[in-house]
Amino acid sequence: MSTYARSVKTISTKLAVIALGGLVWSGANAVQSTAANASGAKEVNLYSSRQPFLMKPLLSAFTAETGVKVNMVYMKKGMLERLKAEGRNSPADLILATDIGNLHNHDAAGLLQPVMSAVLDSNIPAQYRHPKGHWFGLTVRARILYASKARVKAGEITRYEDLAAPGMKGRVCIRSGKHVYNISLLASIIVADGIDGATAWAKGLKANLARKPQGNDRAQVKAVYQGECDVAVGNTYYMGKMATNEKDPGQKKWAQSVNIIFPNQADRGAHVNISGAAVTKSAKNKANAIRLIEYLSGDAAQKIYAERNFEYPVKPGVALHPLVASWGTFKADKAYLAEIAQERTRASKLMDQVSFNN
Ligand SMILES: [Fe+2]
Repeated sequence: MSTYARSVKTISTKLAVIALGGLVWSGANAVQSTAANASGAKEVNLYSSRQPFLMKPLLSAFTAETGVKVNMVYMKKGMLERLKAEGRNSPADLILATDIGNLHNHDAAGLLQPVMSAVLDSNIPAQYRHPKGHWFGLTVRARILYASKARVKAGEITRYEDLAAPGMKGRVCIRSGKHVYNISLLASIIVADGIDGATAWAKGLKANLARKPQGNDRAQVKAVYQGECDVAVGNTYYMGKMATNEKDPGQKKWAQSVNIIFPNQADRGAHVNISGAAVTKSAKNKANAIRLIEYLSGDAAQKIYAERNFEYPVKPGVALHPLVASWGTFKADKAYLAEIAQERTRASKLMDQVSFNN
């Protein structure tokens, strides 16, 4: 922590305010020099909602290769509000965020700028990036089902649509319907089944819940373990985080109590989402921001992402973590995330309309 503390002390008041809600990584002189040079600086300023444990090795490797220093501000929450408040004076050159919802919300607020990059076009499949370069996926995760080994028979639940079937009453657990992950999932169902199909699904799912939506993704798997419900919805990487959790070994039992099911394998495929990056409209070190995103989409960085966080590399051909590989291959929904993002507003309203959380 001493490095972090030291950097917070040495930077300007403006960034110190920013740092209150987060963590400055490798940040000495961050803002002063940014303001001083509009281009050509050997540094770049990053706002990240991705955690330091994950980003630190990636950014160190980038700096070692390019000589470009990265000043990272970790923000668990509030990035959008902060960028809005800072406007064109924001020190941020680029952002890293999870879920298409968060990236799309920054774009909709006019905070991002388009980027043209042959490297990014080549490394990242078109499905996982904005068609005009407003944001780029860097890792992929599927939103899957965690089914009780004891109480869900093989083949009993194979589709998201099955969660809303009449026979599932009282058997399903899921986090808040308004969480970005679930809004994106519902948006993908609007794309697949239309608004009427999605409305029926949201109503049916709500009717089948074992309890009011609460907790995070892991808490749903815990509830399956404890017998509160038989099947839960969650992102893939949580299986890895629970199964290998030495800090809280109880989570290993939660993981052992479930089978993971990749939904809709016989039809459109499982809903996949991304964590990704985008260049801000305020960027003063745009070239370095693009260079960093390009680096993060390359083989070396993709390998680090895969090893440290149990996510799927976005770049085809990069090896999976052995545990992730053990879950088997799966078919991903081919819908473009940019198209799914367009349905998020309707999905969010739909969650309210069916009083999903009440
Ligand atoms: Fe997550």
